[in-house]
Amino acid sequence: MSWAAGEFSQEEDRYSEVLRRQWGSPTLRGIYRDAYGADYPEEADPFGFVTRTDLARITELVAVEPGELLADLGCGRGGPGLVVARERGAVLRGVDVVEAAVTEARELARELGGEAEFAVGSFEQTGLADHSCAAVMSVDAFWMVWDKPGSLAELGRILRPGGRFVFTTWEPSYLDHRELLTEAGFEVLVHEHTPDWLHRQLAVYRGILGHRRRLADEMGQTAAATLIAEARETRSVLATTPRVLIAASTPA
Ligand SMILES: C[S@@+](CC[C@H](N)C(=O)[O-])C[C@H]1O[C@@H](n2cnc3c(N)ncnc32)[C@H](O)[C@@H]1O
Repeated sequence: MSWAAGEFSQEEDRYSEVLRRQWGSPTLRGIYRDAYGADYPEEADPFGFVTRTDLARITELVAVEPGELLADLGCGRGGPGLVVARERGAVLRGVDVVEAAVTEARELARELGGEAEFAVGSFEQTGLADHSCAAVMSVDAFWMVWDKPGSLAELGRILRPGGRFVFTTWEPSYLDHRELLTEAGFEVLVHEHTPDWLHRQLAVYRGILGHRRRLADEMGQTAAATLIAEARETRSVLATTPRVLIAASTPA
């Protein structure tokens, strides 16, 4: 399965260059390490704000049994899904709009082990079979998705009855995920703020703005510029845009 990256909107594939170049930046990794301390999930090598604590909570909430299928949508470079699948003994299918992310995820899967496949696709068109997934997880990706109702319809198609969608995202005041999920036929089981997220995210942005030149040297101008723009533009809205962890299930 593969769709050309050009079919997706600029907004949804805007991290292409960051995802392609992230591995080459010890500075970026150091910024995350400093901001997170012991809660940094080093082996998952995430691109987002997931912590060990978040991954443990997602692992608990997906509730998949060994050998069952877990999908990770907006999987990026694959680490969070690989860690959760390994803890659960689940079979993983990771999907992302960015081809470079999928390539990196396949590489990381070889290092971390487990039964995992990655493909280019989207929340709206996952390429997964009807009712094939015991659960779907997603870390820090749903906020980027333009067609949220269409995506939830796709999740309803690929999840088995009673299957769970467990995800982290940011919740601006104009967007009520609980309402969106309920309208799409899900039952909301958990809706909580992730612990200590604001302090950490602001520390990462401070680190990015403080190391602009080094990031550009290590990742190239385009990737660094994407990170710097986000760090500049997002800080002011964070206080009113909590990072939430949500678990919802399809009817049994
Ligand atoms: C902040 S990154 C998080 C990546 C990964 N989950 C992690 O935590 O390391 C958001 C990811 O969502 C992907 N993405 C954005 N829109 C998407 C869509 N409509 N369908 C699938 N993936 C999408 C991006 O390409 C990016 O890899």
